[in-house]
Amino acid sequence: MLKVAVIGLGNIGKTHTRWYSQNEDAELVALCDLLPERVAPVARQYGVRAYHDVDEMLRSEEIDAVSVATAGPENGGHHYEPVMRCLAAGKHVLVEKPISNDIEHAREMVRFAREKGLLLGVNLNHRFTPAADRAKCLQEEGDLGNVLFVNMSLWINNPNESSPWFHMRALHPHSIDVMRHFGGSIRKVQAFMHKAPGRGIWSNASVNVLFESGAVGHLTGSYDASGLHPIERCEVMGTKGRFVIENVYERLEFFPRTSPEKLVIDNPIMGGMSGFDDTFRNRINRFVEQVLAGGPLDASGEEGLAAQEVIEAAIRSWQHGTVEEVNG
Ligand SMILES: NC(=O)c1ccc[n+]([C@@H]2O[C@H](COP(=O)([O-])OP(=O)(O)OC[C@H]3O[C@@H](n4cnc5c(N)ncnc54)[C@H](O)[C@@H]3O)[C@@H](O)[C@H]2O)c1
Repeated sequence: MLKVAVIGLGNIGKTHTRWYSQNEDAELVALCDLLPERVAPVARQYGVRAYHDVDEMLRSEEIDAVSVATAGPENGGHHYEPVMRCLAAGKHVLVEKPISNDIEHAREMVRFAREKGLLLGVNLNHRFTPAADRAKCLQEEGDLGNVLFVNMSLWINNPNESSPWFHMRALHPHSIDVMRHFGGSIRKVQAFMHKAPGRGIWSNASVNVLFESGAVGHLTGSYDASGLHPIERCEVMGTKGRFVIENVYERLEFFPRTSPEKLVIDNPIMGGMSGFDDTFRNRINRFVEQVLAGGPLDASGEEGLAAQEVIEAAIRSWQHGTVEEVNG
């Protein structure tokens, strides 16, 4: 049984809490938010103690692993402090994305987890779907062949104005992670960006990448889309065929190179994913299972950091009009 706690009880922390409470291998033991009005009702609902101070919670409770679902600048500026405190106290951690909006902090978090021999995971939930798992099987079993290109799109409606790089740092950990999941490490990046009318931030981006393998890839991203339509499309072409994952989990299609018969897997109406929220369930269940097994973790801190390194390279590329090497 994994004893877990959640820090940060906004909507996303509440989602983590709910899925832990439904996992029979996890026992929710405590919740923590700086704001009493945020944590108290949730703690009452689940019958666990509410804390307002991370250190006090870590001192008072027996905890194996902690979800950190704080937010902050660029949706990641508040992750560093609680993550480092949990690691210092010897806890495994699942942190929301971006691992941090500050690349130095992200590097430190990964370094510290490694030093302490603890498991650090990132909630890169877009790849925790049956469609992505099946696509990975096609790749691992050789049906796809060697990856030639990856075409990725992720667009949502987010009218919030934050730093110029909010859209890149807060949204695209997901898309870059999915690209890396199928294409491997990314070596070079070139980006163009665009501000939608009336916006002060770079709310649209077109990013070219070169993978270590020599394969090429592209990301189209936006914070100016409708929230009422599909948000994501991932297309991967290999030497033996091409697959497309539509809208994170809704459909996988595979087009073999030498046969007119294509494979179509739709999200089943019975027993399939009932919505995007289920990506959190799948990710959290995998985290619990892998921590109990002693690791390694899918969507690890290293992978979360690697996605942020690509994002920082894209930002430098747009700032300087250059093709940028990815650090790390
Ligand atoms: N994976 C996904 O699909 C997905 C989707 C949306 C948001 N997110 C991420 O989830 C995270 C949380 O988002 P949200 O909308 O719930 O944020 P939010 O701002 O509503 O909630 C964050 C909470 O953290 C608390 N907090 C901050 N610092 C704290 C600290 N040191 N100790 C205790 N509590 C602290 C705040 O008081 C607040 O209640 C963000 O990082 C965001 O990027 C992920």
